Amino acid sequence: MRTATKMPKLTIAIDGPAGSGKSSLAKRVAQILGYLYLDSGAMYRALALKALREKIALDNFLTLDELARDTHIELKPPTPEQEAAGSKNCVFLDGKEVTQAIRTAEVAQAASRLATIAGVREILVAEQQRAGGGGGVVMEGRDIGTVVFPRAELKIFLEASPEVRAERRWKEHQEKGETMTLAQVLEEVRERDRRDRERKVSPLVRAADAVLVDNTAMDVEETARLVVMLAREREKELARTAGREA
Ligand code: CDP
Ligand code: CDP
Repeated sequence: MRTATKMPKLTIAIDGPAGSGKSSLAKRVAQILGYLYLDSGAMYRALALKALREKIALDNFLTLDELARDTHIELKPPTPEQEAAGSKNCVFLDGKEVTQAIRTAEVAQAASRLATIAGVREILVAEQQRAGGGGGVVMEGRDIGTVVFPRAELKIFLEASPEVRAERRWKEHQEKGETMTLAQVLEEVRERDRRDRERKVSPLVRAADAVLVDNTAMDVEETARLVVMLAREREKELARTAGREA
């Protein structure tokens, strides 16, 4: 009698620039596959919020290293109400919820400056590896496929044109009643992209084995269907390999 093969759980890494749709995609893929969803960018944003609140200069590397060491950041799945309101991960900074507070353009800019500091990255990467280390996880960010989980079984590099990415972000700001113009958002996105791609430590680059997906003209659902199909193929491949080795 044949026994049913248990499908292995993958680690899925999704990287890409601001507004490319990483969070929406990662969250939807995790939902379909029954995986854990983790937003690594929320950790950089939470630490940046603390630095801004404590008025620490963003070029004071030593103090920021210390701040990262002394800070506790936790990502939790949203409650059904928070999910309905569009929240992805619920984010706790030293035990207090900051899920909404980290979603401003000021925090995004500060996060991308903090993210250039090697010591800060080391601490947050270790935390991300601990949180996602059990597999059955979709993690999104800038360096997930290259640094955090270089052995992830499926890596996606998500792209979209800068204009479309800025427009997506601008719509979110509009919905929250914020008054940034589309041109300001485009400038913010371009500046962050440049810093993320050009920094010395763990820059935003496509891993050699990442699948490039340009979703400029695709919606979240279409993109998620494509990635779930790739994930199912990988699951089957791994199950076959495990079967041969057993
Ligand atoms: O996480 P990231 O900054 O890469 O992007 P996101 O937060 O997932 O997406 C930014 C906005 O674009 C959200 O409001 C998404 O609903 C929207 N979006 C879209 O309209 N079409 C896509 N294919 C992907 C995202
Ligand atoms: O949602 P969006 O794509 O706009 O940004 P995010 O994913 O929340 O990340 C905010 C900033 O954190 C990015 O601009 C990066 O500088 C940094 N980041 C990073 O360096 N590495 C990661 N794995 C995730 C975020």
